[in-house]
This record gives sequence, C-alpha cells and structure tokens, in this order.
Amino acid sequence: MGFPQNQRNIARLLKGTNDEDIAQAAKLLCSGQLVAFPTETVYGLGADATNTAAVSSIFSAKRRPMDNPLIVHISSPTDLSKYKLTDFPLSPVALRLIDAFWPGPLTLVLPLSHDTSLSSAVTAGLDSVAIRIPQHPVARAILSSAQIPVAAPSANLSGRPSPTCAEHVLHDLADTIDAVVDGSNGDSGNLMYTCGLESTVVDLTNKPVILRPGVISIEELNFASQIEIGKYSALTTPDGISPKAPGMKYRHYAPIAPLHILNMKSLAHAINLHRQAGQRVGILADQAICNKIPQEEVECVTCGNDGTAASFARSLYAALRAFDGEGSLAVREPVDIIFAVPPDDINNGVGEAVMNRLRKAASSRDNYIGTQK
Ligand code: TXA
Ligand code: MG
Repeated sequence: MGFPQNQRNIARLLKGTNDEDIAQAAKLLCSGQLVAFPTETVYGLGADATNTAAVSSIFSAKRRPMDNPLIVHISSPTDLSKYKLTDFPLSPVALRLIDAFWPGPLTLVLPLSHDTSLSSAVTAGLDSVAIRIPQHPVARAILSSAQIPVAAPSANLSGRPSPTCAEHVLHDLADTIDAVVDGSNGDSGNLMYTCGLESTVVDLTNKPVILRPGVISIEELNFASQIEIGKYSALTTPDGISPKAPGMKYRHYAPIAPLHILNMKSLAHAINLHRQAGQRVGILADQAICNKIPQEEVECVTCGNDGTAASFARSLYAALRAFDGEGSLAVREPVDIIFAVPPDDINNGVGEAVMNRLRKAASSRDNYIGTQK
C-alpha cells in the first residue's frame, strides 16, 4: 500500500518577499535539492553546481540532453576565485564586461579552471564554463544566503518557452522539482526587474563572440569592452556540426501550432486567406493591433501594450504558452496557425533578441509571409 514508488511531492511554493522563504530556498539548494527562482531574465532551475547528483537531477527534470551545459550563477565576482571557476588573471575584455554588466543579464563563457570545484556535469565535459551574476533581488538574496555556485538553466521542460512566472515553472515541473520561489511583487502582482528573455551569452575563450543575443546589445558590448565582438551564427559552425553553444542546435520555444512572422500590411490578407481555407487563426501582437481585429474571427493573444520591443519581450513566452492552452491568456480553442507581428523597434538589443526568439519559434517551417520586419 502507500504511494506509488516514484511519485514525488508537488513542488513547494515559496515567497520571494519573505526572508524565511529565502533562507529555506538556500537551505534546500545546499542540501542537493532543485529550487526554481526568479531572475531578471527568466526563472532558473537551480542546483548546487558542485554536487553531481543534484546537477544530474536538473537534466532529468527538464529532460535536457546531457551534452547541453548549464550556466553557473554566483553572487559576486570574488566567487570566481572562491569556487575555482576560471583561470586568472582574467582578460582585460572580461574585466571590462564584468565591470559594466554584472550584476545583470550577461553570461560570460570563460576558460574552466583546472582544479575547479564544479561538477563536470555542469559543463558537459567542456573546458569552458558559462557564468553570470543575476540582478534580480530574489536571485541575489538566495545566492548570497546559499554561498555555493548554483547551476541554473531556464526552469522549463526542454523545448518549451522559458518561464517568466512561477505558474509556468509549476506547469512544466511541479512534480519533478522540490520548490519554486515566486518573484512576483506582493503589492502589484507585477514581476520585478523582468526583461522576459534569456541573458546575452558572450564567449571569451577565443576571439570574443556573441553566442546568444539578449537585451544587452552588441553595440553596448562593443562600447564597454573597447573591442569589436563578433556575432556567431549557428549556421556557420566551423565543423558544420556542433554549434559553439551546444543549446543552439536544439529546437526551442515552438508552440504546437506553426508560427509565422509577418508584418501589419500582410496581416488582413493572411487572416482572410486562412479563414477561407477553414483554419482557426491565432494572432500574437501588441495590444493596439489586437484591438483592431474582430475577436470573433481570430484568437488574439496580446503581447506587449505600448508597441515597444521591451514590452513585447516581457510577454512573449507567456503568449507562446497561451497558444498551447496555458495560463490566464489561454486561447479558447487550439488554433491551426499563428501569425506573430513583431514590434516596431527591432533595431536595438531587445528588438534583436525578440526577433531571434520569434525566428526560433517559427523555425523549421516556411516561416515568413509578406515582408519581414
Ligand atoms: O538568462 C539566462 O541565461 C537564464 C537564467 C535562468 O539565468 N538561463 C538560461 O540557461 O537561459 P539555459 O540553460 O536555458 O541556456 C544556457 C545556454 C545554452 O544555449 C547552453 O548551451 C549555453 O548557454 N552554454 C552553457 N555553457 C556553455 C559553455 N561552456 N560554452 C558555450 N555555451 C554554453
Ligand atoms: Mg533554456
């Protein structure tokens, strides 16, 4: 009798606004448990990066391929030497980027120290390590309290959009992790400090290069580092097989229905065409655009409320999840096709990152209709 063998408890929900809960989250991490917590980008799924069993349970909870390394989260640049993460001295470029952007949404890939305290499962056997210091006060409080390096990928099932609230984490991982710390602000219900997209990843192990675009733009990186940082394309890998960031070879962010990126000019025509063919059409667009479309004709999921890329970015993952029937924005019925209208200002850091994620959501399909913005 009793519970079935491998049933786990449902993850405990802790409050990021409560000091006791922060201490509890840190204690759970130190004892090898999995704790999801908010950062200013997306929620991370944390585990003690020196504990191989704990790190391995991240991979099984997320169903993440073992060859995709994790980002190590620390609370201060002095942790780089304290936990023997990388070699010293750091390069002048690394020092300038750390000075300019930590804490913040920038991940640096550095040479892994030969006598590191990290589990080799974190780095998937590579001789480099990805590191960041998050800015979100809840993440900072947990990391300072735990006093361990914390490996944390985004707290979603592999292939699903990254989580931007505790509900997304619970939807994907409630019965495979130990706790989630809710980062929403008790007074307003709004998330604090969120960009909604994952950090910019810069590889400094060779000629500096951006592996993943994020809200920190290449112009900001070039200005702060005083050099020209390259842009890495997954399509131009040196060996044609293995991208420099192993995560780039896996499909990401895709909702169930095919998603196409198109501009406002083409929207009415595309909606008519597909409705005439008997399809249920979904629209992912800023509020002003959604307001113009008759709701009985399509399933609109609002993404952003002031036309900016920053506002679009904050809601993008919740909107993608809504098309799969998740959350308060969930569509009434599944759609056959989704048209995503990008925000106007895509020529800045956030705009580029938004387009990168939208293209991934649309990837492996015939993804552009009309003129791409
Ligand atoms: O904003 C973020 O970065 C979030 C929050 C939780 O910090 N984390 C996140 O982790 O997005 P994840 O695992 O979803 O993405 C990490 C990316 C993957 O594409 C991975 O392949 C790459 O970083 N990466 C990790 N270690 C690397 C290394 N040593 N060399 C190259 N790429 C690496
Ligand atoms: Mg991820």
